[in-house]
Amino acid sequence: MSIVISGTGLYTPPHKISNDELVGAFNQYVTEFNQQNAQAIEAGELEALKPSSSEFITKASGIENRYVMTKEGILDTKKMMPLTPQRNNDEVSIQAEMAIGAAKQALEAANKKPEDIDLIIVACSYTQRAYPAIAIEVQQQLGCGGWAFDMLVACSSATFGIMNASNALEGGTAKSVLVISPEIASPQINYRDRDSHFIFGDVATAVVVEKEETATSEHAFRILAKKPMTSFSNNIRSNFGHLARHTPEEAFEGDKLFVQQGRKVFKEVLPMVSKLIDEQMSLAGIEKNDLKRLFLHQANINMNTFIAKKVLGRDPIGNDAPIILNEFANTASAGSIIAFHRFHDDMVKGDKGIICSFGAGYSAGCLIIEHI
Ligand SMILES: CC(C)(COP(=O)(O)OP(=O)(O)OC[C@H]1O[C@@H](n2cnc3c(N)ncnc32)[C@H](O)[C@@H]1OP(=O)(O)O)[C@@H](O)C(=O)NCCC(=O)NCCS
Repeated sequence: MSIVISGTGLYTPPHKISNDELVGAFNQYVTEFNQQNAQAIEAGELEALKPSSSEFITKASGIENRYVMTKEGILDTKKMMPLTPQRNNDEVSIQAEMAIGAAKQALEAANKKPEDIDLIIVACSYTQRAYPAIAIEVQQQLGCGGWAFDMLVACSSATFGIMNASNALEGGTAKSVLVISPEIASPQINYRDRDSHFIFGDVATAVVVEKEETATSEHAFRILAKKPMTSFSNNIRSNFGHLARHTPEEAFEGDKLFVQQGRKVFKEVLPMVSKLIDEQMSLAGIEKNDLKRLFLHQANINMNTFIAKKVLGRDPIGNDAPIILNEFANTASAGSIIAFHRFHDDMVKGDKGIICSFGAGYSAGCLIIEHI
């Protein structure tokens, strides 16, 4: 049975923050902190905080901008977190709102109506609550039938979600699936941490996955191969969870937010991902020259260039391995799907590509696709 990705959607949040704006607020915080603690710093009891720089961020990561659902609070040195108003239970939740925005576009692109969908998978790094599932709220709001569930695999959520969708279609538990990744990543950022204050942005992506025999869209991509993998690592962690209230004095400590050993991640994830892609290409009988495009996870431009070079055996040129993280920053599992959404319109029958995610867990997901 052939399974295809037949439509994509992208919801872009309403607010933008440039590197300069973010660094301006961070450096103001650093000045205030160092002034307030001048005596302790002078006495050698406390280390002075160092300023951040836009040049460093762009050079080290490729990020120039990010979108956020709530800008208020992020640039305020007394708050340094998004102050998202709580919504009542009878209002649509913020994450469902993002998901619905992306899902409607994906449905349109796939020539599908909500009633055609009988499985919704919300696959992302964080859900704003444990239950009821965001996916079930989206199912109700869109008017879809069938069933729905949430799943979390950090940056590989979207690719693992597509693989789960494909398995459900093959197993006969669904006929048409929406996989939605509403990544509301800004609340997990420690905006007072120089190493990571610039990394994430918010966004939502959606894809329709269905059997080839039911697909009618202009751009449908057959899944030729799919492979998920995981390998435990403490190098990227976020410890926030419902058990945090058991130690209320530590409930908002830095380890409850996103923390990573960026260099180690770089060194360990690159060979892991290169091997995964290599193996999948061999299994599928795909040569490097057969590949039209690499839709890679968007965490770091230097990582993407490294992987693209390894896979293609040469420097990537033009749109070989499109980068969107300059505009969106790291959007967790949505990154490779944004690249796919933005850069597949010029692909034609027979063109092959790879969608590959990688990140916390560690986790990595590789999909080899072909335009039908
Ligand atoms: C986070 C990341 C961009 C940092 O880039 P890096 O090149 O590794 O930078 P380092 O942390 O080694 O720091 C290099 C120098 O810049 C400095 N620096 C760190 N943050 C800075 C900032 N915001 N502004 C200015 N300088 C900064 C460091 O202090 C260090 O200075 P030193 O050499 O004097 O000690 C990069 O490691 C990365 O993207 N890693 C992979 C992340 C990833 O894929 N994660 C998956 C998550 S989904």
